[in-house]
Amino acid sequence: MAGLEKGNHTRITEFLLVGFETLPELQITLFVVFFIIYLATVAGNLLLVLTVWTDHHLHTPMYFFLSNLSFLETGYVSTIIPRLLASLATGDKTISLLGCFLQLFVFSFLGATECFLLTGMSYDRYLAICDPLHYASNMSPRFSFLLAFASWALGFVAPSFTVIMASLLPFCGPSEINHFFCDLTALLKLPCTNTSLIETTALISAFTISMVPFVLTITSYVYVILTILRIPSTTGRKKAFSTCSAHLIVVSMFYGALIIMYVVPSGNQSLDFNKVFSLLYTVVTPMFNPIVYSLRNQEVKDALRRAIGKMWPSTKM
Ligand SMILES: *[C@@H]1O[C@H](CO)[C@@H](O)[C@H](O)[C@H]1NC(C)=O
Repeated sequence: MAGLEKGNHTRITEFLLVGFETLPELQITLFVVFFIIYLATVAGNLLLVLTVWTDHHLHTPMYFFLSNLSFLETGYVSTIIPRLLASLATGDKTISLLGCFLQLFVFSFLGATECFLLTGMSYDRYLAICDPLHYASNMSPRFSFLLAFASWALGFVAPSFTVIMASLLPFCGPSEINHFFCDLTALLKLPCTNTSLIETTALISAFTISMVPFVLTITSYVYVILTILRIPSTTGRKKAFSTCSAHLIVVSMFYGALIIMYVVPSGNQSLDFNKVFSLLYTVVTPMFNPIVYSLRNQEVKDALRRAIGKMWPSTKM
C-alpha cells in the first residue's frame, strides 16, 4: 500500500484548511466573533502606533519599541484572521501550496521577530532602570532603531531554513490540514515521506528561536526587579515599577502561551488541542497588548487624552 502511494507521485496543487468543524449555524457566530476581534486588534494597535507617532512626549526608545511591537502585531493577525474569515464566510477552505507556505513563512517570521523585539524592549528597561545615569547615551535613538532593525532581520532569517525545507517535501497524499492556518505541526502530518528529520530540525529551530530570547528577557527583568526592590522610597519604587509592569504582563502572556503550546501537548499530541490553544497566541494576545499598554501606562493615557482633545475639543475625558 505504502509502495503504491510512493510510486504515484502526483503532487497535489492545493490544501484544504479544515478550520473549525462545527455546525453550519456556528460558522456565522464564529465569523462575527473573529471579525470583531480582528477589527478591535487592528484598531487598538494602529491607534497606539499613531499616538506614539504624533505625540512628541512619546518620542523615546521605549515608545518606539512599543509602537514597533504594535505594528508587528497588526501584521501578525492580518496573516491569519482575514484568511479564516474568508473561509468562514464563503465555505471555501482551499489554499494553494504557495499561499500556504507564504502564510507559514510570514507567520513564523513575525513570531520570531516578536521574540527578538521583546528581548530588545527588556534590554531597554534594563538600561533605563539599572543604569539610569548612562541611559541616554547607551540607548540612543540610533541604537534603538538598530536593535529593532536587527530583530526584524533576524526574525526573517531564523525560520526560513525550516520553511524552505518543508516546502520541498513531496505532497501527494491527503490534503487536509487540520488547522485554521498553515501551522507547521499540522502541515507535517501530510507529506508522503518520512518527516522525522524536518520535525527534529523544526523543533530545534523553534526551541532556539524562543528560548534564547526568553532567557535573555527573563535575565533583564530579574535585574530590573532586584534594582526596583532596592529603591528606598515607596514613590520611587512605584514610579520605576509603573514603567515596566506592562512589559512584564505582555512578556508573560506571550511566553505563557508559547510554553502551554510546547510543554502541555508533549504528553497529549492532539491536533485539536493544538488548534484551540493556538487561538491564544494568534488571536488573544495581539488583542490584549495595546489594552495592557494603554491601561497600565499613564503617559500613553495622557497622550490619548491629548489626541482626543485635539480632535474633538469639546470632549472631556
Ligand atoms: C519598526 O522597526 C523597523 C526596523 O527598525 C522599521 O523599519 C519600521 O518602520 C518600524 N515601524 C514602526 C511603526 O515603528
